[in-house]
Amino acid sequence: MKFSRSQGDNRTYRNAHHRDHLLAFPKNFEWGSSTSAHQVEGNNTHSDWWQWEPGHVAQNQTSGEACDHYRTFQDDFNIIKQLNHTAHRLGIEWARLEPKQGEWDQDAIEHYHDVFRALKKRNIKIMLTLHHFTNPAWFSEQGGWEKKKNIKAFVRFVEFVTREYHEYIDWWITINEPMVYLTEAYIFGHRPPQKVSLWSAYRVYRNMARAHRLAYKKIHKIDPHAKVGLAHNVSSYHAYRKHALVDQMFEMVLDRITNHAFLKKSGFPRYYDFLGLNYYFHIRIKQVRLQSIVKHFDIFEPVMTERRDTSDIGWELYPHGIFNVLMDFADCGRPIYITENGIATDDDKKRQKFIHEYLTEIWHAINGGADVRGYFYWSLLDNFEWEAGFGPRFGLVYVDYQTQKRTLKQSAHLYADICKKNGIEVS
Ligand code: BGC
Repeated sequence: MKFSRSQGDNRTYRNAHHRDHLLAFPKNFEWGSSTSAHQVEGNNTHSDWWQWEPGHVAQNQTSGEACDHYRTFQDDFNIIKQLNHTAHRLGIEWARLEPKQGEWDQDAIEHYHDVFRALKKRNIKIMLTLHHFTNPAWFSEQGGWEKKKNIKAFVRFVEFVTREYHEYIDWWITINEPMVYLTEAYIFGHRPPQKVSLWSAYRVYRNMARAHRLAYKKIHKIDPHAKVGLAHNVSSYHAYRKHALVDQMFEMVLDRITNHAFLKKSGFPRYYDFLGLNYYFHIRIKQVRLQSIVKHFDIFEPVMTERRDTSDIGWELYPHGIFNVLMDFADCGRPIYITENGIATDDDKKRQKFIHEYLTEIWHAINGGADVRGYFYWSLLDNFEWEAGFGPRFGLVYVDYQTQKRTLKQSAHLYADICKKNGIEVS
């Protein structure tokens, strides 16, 4: 597939360069993809999600075997190698390692040694996520993240994992998307424990921020050279009416609450060696009217009414949004990694276009001063998309869930070419 050069690509820049037909990324830029344990491993039987899934997931599905990655990881890592990735972001599952409180599972411990060794053997750097939405069932039964006293159990888990595996790990992600976790579970009530309560949501917010700081300190105590961060979901906002103060205020407040507040609360930049950003959403704010907010929380413009291009699950495709959020964090004082960015679609041409356009915007952001050091496409494999089940396909690699056969999509090859050249080919 040929892409044309967007305007302004032929300027000369300090960090990233435009050479003939190539938008070159900085030297040592990391290229990879992301997964999370529960979404790919399969049979995560001791987790709260496993217990919750029956009757709550689209089309009555459950995660079941998922991608069977727990058993097929060697083959999946061969694919990563074949695709020229230099790094991989993956999760470690707390519920497997500590299925009962205080009891560590020897098979699971050995398993993750094998997993990390397999990546190192292939010379792939490792970004490890310690918490990605799932908890051990026993932790949730004790009140989960709502209870301040439960933070101790998480920090003990972090200590265990750090002592056991720190020699392999290049970057640590303490928590994946705390704001998404608490919003989905405690504000919208779509995910376990489905408790709709602003007060509970606030307590989870406070406890996760504290857990991040304590985890940061614990990891550094064991491994002073460790690089520790968090994967933070950021959205780009757009208020239609530039002249309307109330719309502008609304945009600012949303930006503050969803993009910045948690970072501040969790001690950014002091307790961060880098910042991980997950980018998916561009959100349009239409006329803000008090009455409609109170009655229906009706403040967002549904993109479909404007016939904008979306993914299969209705998320607007807006490449320039990633540039906007990166520029917003350009002066944050910490290196940035895009820890997730991807599209759910059965139309792989769309994914190819997506990868090309979003990376081009990242290239511009780097030239604009954002210190971006790596990109992890979400996801390596089609996988279990939480309460949406197996319908949405985010993968570079197609998974046949009946046979567990993997098939590389054309987008995987396009991305592999970018990784190899450390840049984007343009015509
Ligand atoms: C999460 C992933 C999820 C992806 C797509 C992110 O919010 O970290 O687990 O699959 O978005 O929805």
